[in-house]
Amino acid sequence: MYNEKVMDHFQNPRNAGEMLNPSGVGEVGNMKCGDIMKIFIKVEEGRIQDINFLTFGCGAAIASSSMLTELVKGKTLEEALNITNMDVAEKLGGLPDAKLHCSNLAADALHKAIENYQANNSPV
Ligand code: FES
Repeated sequence: MYNEKVMDHFQNPRNAGEMLNPSGVGEVGNMKCGDIMKIFIKVEEGRIQDINFLTFGCGAAIASSSMLTELVKGKTLEEALNITNMDVAEKLGGLPDAKLHCSNLAADALHKAIENYQANNSPV
């Protein structure tokens, strides 16, 4: 039911694992299925220099996390904030309708990680 690209990112996820000393962390959960995704970002000079993920979820959620990390690395925070759930699903070559909600986690977790970074670095 998944295309080749989704299977590749599911079976060989890029940038999986926890990051030590991240600049920002975002975590989201899907109420329906109970899956959880955590995104870690390292920000330097306004750009996301590194990004990792931990996902406890289905194949589509893992593939979405993996694709998101590839999309985001090297982008400015502004560019990263413009990445949508649909962008992730499109880059994966599409997801089955029943699995589209799984890709929502990826962009949402990224946006939360950026918000977390901004909150940690806003002038007091
Ligand atoms: Fe839960 Fe895919 S079924 S994120």
